[in-house]
Amino acid sequence: MAARLIKGAEVAKQIREELKLQVQEMKEKRGLVPGLVTILVGENPASQSYVRAKQKTAHELGFYSVQDDRPADITEEALLDLIRKYNEDPKIHGILVQLPLPKHIDETKILYAIDPDKDVDGFHPVNVGKLMIGTADFLPCTPAGIQELLVRSGAQIEGAEVVVVGRSNIVGKPIANMLIQKGPGANATVTVVHTRTRDVAFHTRRADILIVAAGVPKYIKGDMVKEGAVVIDVGVNEVGRTPEGKRILVGDVDFDEVVEKASAITPVPGGVGPMTITMLMKNTVKAALKAAGDL
Ligand code: GUN
Repeated sequence: MAARLIKGAEVAKQIREELKLQVQEMKEKRGLVPGLVTILVGENPASQSYVRAKQKTAHELGFYSVQDDRPADITEEALLDLIRKYNEDPKIHGILVQLPLPKHIDETKILYAIDPDKDVDGFHPVNVGKLMIGTADFLPCTPAGIQELLVRSGAQIEGAEVVVVGRSNIVGKPIANMLIQKGPGANATVTVVHTRTRDVAFHTRRADILIVAAGVPKYIKGDMVKEGAVVIDVGVNEVGRTPEGKRILVGDVDFDEVVEKASAITPVPGGVGPMTITMLMKNTVKAALKAAGDL
């Protein structure tokens, strides 16, 4: 029997509607408008499209939103100055620097420069550390979206064998950390596999919940998945364009094969992607409330 679809786009829409009402109330009751700046360096088309989507959503929710585009040859010092400017700007509650950055810029240095209270991506080492000890203010957006989808889809997380494919700082490491924490929506047993793992399929076949953020199109085949597993596909791989020029996207999971084995699966597009943006908005609202002393 084919798996049930975990429709991230629908869940995301519902959460955004809740956020929109919350933002209206914040405005009316105390004149507080969440402010988000997205900083994009260079002209990477995928990054441009992500940033555009983030800005569009911020507008729809009634945020004060600023898109700050900078040329690919901006110096590290100039970018640091820009971040310091937004750190000081009281109208801005969230600062997002779209990754990846050009090679001449030290990503770690940039992420360190963002005020941890405005780090709505959850990438600053202070926030990474807080996540690790279970006291996070800002959960990184993609992992937060994955956890929310798992919880809302009714997956049994507590005690489950979770296998995460990929060890990036943006997805693999944080989601693994979140799911081993004590508490609701967690308490799982987590294995992380990566490019140096001896036998990836040995691990993935044991997973009750399989989370794939490998960056390789259709990497996970049907025979790598246990019957009845819940499969979360974080991959966004452009494999071509339609005659009209629209991007053709596939995930890291071979959907047609795995849909026959899994009990539930996220589609690409329309799965994890919309949740990521929604969690960014949620973090920005939280940052604004914290700045106003409400949290
Ligand atoms: N690049 C890919 N994913 C992300 C993300 O979640 N945040 C930022 N800032 N850059 C990214």
